Amino acid sequence: MSSSEALLDVSNLDVTLHTERATVRASRAVTYSVAAGRTLAIVGESGSGKTILNLAPLGLLPPGVTADITGEVRFDGKLVLGDGVNQIASHRGKDIGVIFQDPLSALNPARRIGSQIMEVAEQHLGMTARAASAHAAELLKMVGIPDPVARLSQYPHELSGGMRQRVVIAAAIAAEPKLLIADEPTTALDVTVQAQIISLLRQLQKRIGMAIVLISHDIGVVAGMADAIAVMYAGAIVEIGSADDVLVQPSHPYTRGLLASVPRLDTPLGAPFRGLPGLPPDLSRPLKGCAFEERCSVALEACGSARPPLQPVAGTHAAACFANVRAALAATR
Ligand SMILES: Nc1ncnc2c1ncn2[C@@H]1O[C@H](COP(=O)(O)OP(=O)(O)O)[C@@H](O)[C@H]1O
Ligand SMILES: [Mg+2]
Repeated sequence: MSSSEALLDVSNLDVTLHTERATVRASRAVTYSVAAGRTLAIVGESGSGKTILNLAPLGLLPPGVTADITGEVRFDGKLVLGDGVNQIASHRGKDIGVIFQDPLSALNPARRIGSQIMEVAEQHLGMTARAASAHAAELLKMVGIPDPVARLSQYPHELSGGMRQRVVIAAAIAAEPKLLIADEPTTALDVTVQAQIISLLRQLQKRIGMAIVLISHDIGVVAGMADAIAVMYAGAIVEIGSADDVLVQPSHPYTRGLLASVPRLDTPLGAPFRGLPGLPPDLSRPLKGCAFEERCSVALEACGSARPPLQPVAGTHAAACFANVRAALAATR
């Protein structure tokens, strides 16, 4: 993926959050790109910085939090953040649709479903109320909601969790965005509904041709849909590559840990959890060396004092791990 063909190009992004209590380095030197019409999955445990990385540049911060952001973001060939420019927020809703992680805040419980979708069409497509209402019904049909016209006048609590998430998706794609940021779009749903929502996103992607940034703590959820995968740990990308590269030849011990913790068909019931022991580091404390060192079973001495840079494994596949670099060198000798 060269930058010239990328729809979204994020380069060297640093995000530092300030709250009353703490200063948190939420993203460090993060670089990635998303090609038009393709899906980049961003995976990592809760607290690794996935949400802040994607939403802070759009001006979407948790209440009571401010952020210092440095680095550059290009969208559709245009510099939208960096070098004194800060215009990315103006693309939100129109060129960039967002599905928020928090299912409770996604829809206003006091307003009818139809008006919440119509609002997007009126605001970003300049539609009249009548046209927006027809568009909203069309969207509900597109996301697989039966009897869409009748649903327009219902309230969110009248729908199941899965149907509500379909409404949220309908609102996010109402202006046919070029990019959809889907933050944990299936996390609040049960497993069968999760699969339906992922399949819906794939269908919509084909139909609208939009690129998707699919954020999930569960690498198993994104495996079937991602073209590329970026693995985040402690605010940094520790491995990135095509989905095949990352899933078939995981090069960072953290990625291997995430993959080992995905239950498989052949996992016996009641088998011990093979996932990752320990917890991610506190991002309000300074980090010395590799952030994963404490939990890593292959750590070298260097890992405690120096931070491994993201280095190419092969082609566009890269990982930030001293042990992996050493193993690769040994293999070529
Ligand atoms: N409202 C908040 N106040 C203070 N720190 C926060 C807040 N939200 C997130 N953070 C910090 O930012 C870091 C990244 O969080 P986040 O992007 O939400 O992670 P993820 O989406 O991967 O679960 C975490 O270390 C978290 O502690
Ligand atoms: Mg999150």
